[in-house]
Amino acid sequence: MRRIDRISSQGNSLAVTWADGGRSTWPAVWLRDQCRCAKCRHPSGQRLFEIGDLPARPEISAVTLIDGALRLEWRDGHVSTFDSGWLADHDLSEAARAARARQPRLWGKEIGNHLPEGDWPSIARDPAAELRWLEAYHTFGFGLLRNVPVEPGQVAEVGDHLGFVRTTNYGKLFDVISVPDPNNLANTALGLGVHSDNPYRDPTPGVQLLHCLESDAPGGDTLLVDGFAAAEQLREEAPQHFAMLVKVPASFRFADKDADLSTRTPLISVDDEGRVTAVHFNNRSFAGIDVAEELVEPWYEAYRAFAAILKRPEREVIFRLGPGDLVVMQNERALHGRTAFDPNKGRRRLQGCYVDKDGMESRMRVLRRKLNGAAAKGAAE
Ligand code: OGA
Ligand code: ZN
Ligand code: ZN
Repeated sequence: MRRIDRISSQGNSLAVTWADGGRSTWPAVWLRDQCRCAKCRHPSGQRLFEIGDLPARPEISAVTLIDGALRLEWRDGHVSTFDSGWLADHDLSEAARAARARQPRLWGKEIGNHLPEGDWPSIARDPAAELRWLEAYHTFGFGLLRNVPVEPGQVAEVGDHLGFVRTTNYGKLFDVISVPDPNNLANTALGLGVHSDNPYRDPTPGVQLLHCLESDAPGGDTLLVDGFAAAEQLREEAPQHFAMLVKVPASFRFADKDADLSTRTPLISVDDEGRVTAVHFNNRSFAGIDVAEELVEPWYEAYRAFAAILKRPEREVIFRLGPGDLVVMQNERALHGRTAFDPNKGRRRLQGCYVDKDGMESRMRVLRRKLNGAAAKGAAE
């Protein structure tokens, strides 16, 4: 653990020099808002005061180091204590913030040689095996489960184990089979280019599960492309196209006799530090762009460039789902598709459902806590 070597305060900020030579500073208002004392926080960890209850410019009047913990006295008489481990975990420096952010491991075709996968019966019974699978899933944006019972409805059982299944107008789960007169090209035997499912929903499904029940029809192989890697490639090759897709939203729509779903969202989303957080790409349900005329041509140029990157063979992993295989995908990252199949020469049946992304992240953190013995206290927010 990081040890504090020296402290200094200028009233409106606190500086810590660590024994390892690093230095961290925190504005006083940040520290006062984070106070963990019994007046400020309920035992659940939730905050008991509102921002307007704090002095607008809280001032530190004295700071002492006692047994590795910092004791801060405030001008208004309040006292706060922060232990050094907690401060180290909340270092605001650029390097510390970058280390805390989950770094996705970008991939291309080569991931086909070592797909992130696990044995479902082991995962369902062994939290350590489940955590290993969840860590890999979050790193790569998808994961395979093998040996899921070949029974209709299992996809929702798995979904409700890993998170919470989100019911939609397609139901709690849906069949992917070739039918006459379908309301969606997924239910034909046509190939499907890689896409995020249902970007016409708000929110877009965070996670998609597809479980294979039958697959003896020739064709129908699964395609996956890392949308984050493709977006990074676009940023590198044509930053102006990348910026255009971040800035200008596209419209997506799905309509049949019972539903009329419509959204507007950029093809590429980034966070406050410019990191890619989501890709929305779906040729079938793309409805057009409803933007100022002068943006249309540059946007289409960018759209074409991004679509071309998504089609590069080195970006795409192809594998075949057999009965009992289930693929779990971060729907706004791991774009999926399939090759065409021949429904006259065999059967193909998948079942799918959607799960919220946050539920699976929560599951991973809870398992980490359970297995690594970390406490939940102070985390309830
Ligand atoms: C879907 C889909 C892929 C497949 O139903 O959303 O993309 O392999 N299906 O049939
Ligand atoms: Zn307090
Ligand atoms: Zn799909």
